[in-house]
Amino acid sequence: MGETVGSALITGASGHLGRRIAESMFQQSFTLAINDIDEKASALLAASMEGAASFAVDVSEPVTASQLVADVVDRFGPIDVLINAIGVEGPIAAIEDIQPQDLRHVFDVNVLSLFWLCRAVVPTMKQNGGGRIINLASGAGLAGGAFASPYHASKHAVVGLTRSLARELAPHQIAVNAVCPGYVESPMVDRIFDGQMGVTGSEPDVLESIPMGRMADAEEVASVVTFLALDAPLYMTGSCLSVDGGLRA
Ligand SMILES: NC(=O)c1ccc[n+]([C@@H]2O[C@H](COP(=O)([O-])OP(=O)(O)OC[C@H]3O[C@@H](n4cnc5c(N)ncnc54)[C@H](O)[C@@H]3O)[C@@H](O)[C@H]2O)c1
Repeated sequence: MGETVGSALITGASGHLGRRIAESMFQQSFTLAINDIDEKASALLAASMEGAASFAVDVSEPVTASQLVADVVDRFGPIDVLINAIGVEGPIAAIEDIQPQDLRHVFDVNVLSLFWLCRAVVPTMKQNGGGRIINLASGAGLAGGAFASPYHASKHAVVGLTRSLARELAPHQIAVNAVCPGYVESPMVDRIFDGQMGVTGSEPDVLESIPMGRMADAEEVASVVTFLALDAPLYMTGSCLSVDGGLRA
């Protein structure tokens, strides 16, 4: 294995964006701890990158998330970068049709997981003299969305967590930023559109609303995440970077 620039834990790494982020981080010579609840996909991805290891656990459980961080530190030493690329779109439904267990699941995965992971990783970063945390929020964290209130509310929470931790952890040289993709060509967007068709009876006309006239490629999001992980000045913290073809400009 060549020289490494540091270690990174990527959660949700075998998802559509997580995988591209992992590949891009690997190309930049990070040593990677690959996490995804999908055990097989996580193991396959880790096996494709020299020096990487798979840690396939459910990070929405606080004890499991803490154990994950401890296991990664045991294996690779201090974690330099935590990238949270987990997420679920949750129920696409009118407010009166949302079931409590579905709502809880979105918040468990999209929000509480990030609390558990940051809670566990921050002491090791403080001890190590600094670090970087990058959360995949969404344009849904910057504006509302009809019939997707659980997802939008959860992503607003990710933005709030990112900004709060940026302030809290700056004295410890830990930068905390969020990336807010608009629409990415991905299975998640397909699922959201299908859900919206089910509620409203018509497919949302999103391409019309995007000034660039197209959705993003996962690579365009991955390159911003990798920039925040490596080349961005540490002074850049608390930012929520839109990657959305001008959608929210
Ligand atoms: N796809 C888009 O257009 C888009 C746009 C804006 C923001 N985002 C956000 O980017 C992130 C990644 O999106 P994606 O399109 O890659 O989604 P995806 O569904 O392809 O990937 C999510 C991954 O998270 C994993 N996961 C889910 N729950 C988990 C848990 N409890 N523990 C561990 N792993 C778990 C899944 O197995 C999956 O591999 C999400 O936070 C999403 O909300 C996506």
